[in-house]
Amino acid sequence: MINIAIDGPAGAGKSTIAKLIASEKGYIYLDTGAMYRALAVYALKNGVDPLDEKAVDKLVVGVDMDIKYIDGIQHIIVCGEDVTSQIRENHVSKAASDISAHPSVRIKLVELQREFAKTHDVVLDGRDIGTFVLPDTPYKFYLTASAEVRAERRVKDLAERGQTVDFKTVLEEIKQRDYNDSHRQFAPLRQADDAVFIDSSEMSIDEVKDFILSKI
Ligand code: DC
Repeated sequence: MINIAIDGPAGAGKSTIAKLIASEKGYIYLDTGAMYRALAVYALKNGVDPLDEKAVDKLVVGVDMDIKYIDGIQHIIVCGEDVTSQIRENHVSKAASDISAHPSVRIKLVELQREFAKTHDVVLDGRDIGTFVLPDTPYKFYLTASAEVRAERRVKDLAERGQTVDFKTVLEEIKQRDYNDSHRQFAPLRQADDAVFIDSSEMSIDEVKDFILSKI
């Protein structure tokens, strides 16, 4: 199976690029961030604070997560409920980052991701795919951009979904999430030593896509 890992911080354009590469190559796209987001939605619905490790550990034991593709779109079903439409809300970003720091959560979701990669040609985007989930894949990319560019992209993204947010707030949230994701103890956001580094601040989507395709 071919597994392409695209890691990087929030708002670097990983999902846009990963989707394009998957569609050009005829592979499946797996958005691993969506899995952490879906679990965060489930925790919040059940009154569990994503920062409360003990409560999260308990919750995770009984969680059943399923990934389905409907008309080519990834859907996440948690304990029978399709939570896909709720995972992009702005408050879920911080909750997902918080919940993703707990080893019990990562062990559970990484197992699903590895199983998926074993049985599909797939482009995965995330934070730890090249370093932890699939360290042996030869196709690893680390995609980043300046925090300001990433915040601008996020504001535009949210506006397209009908959510109005202030640039400065988003910039602060992005910096906070970068810090959280790269400072957690278990499988933090980090460039794998053998990943190709790409700074997309001054690159178009097509330029990034073509560059990655040229390396595969
Ligand atoms: O990529 P995203 O913004 O949808 O991810 C949401 C959060 O999930 C992110 O802040 C950290 C966590 N995450 C992770 O820890 N590992 C991954 N492979 C993907 C996401």
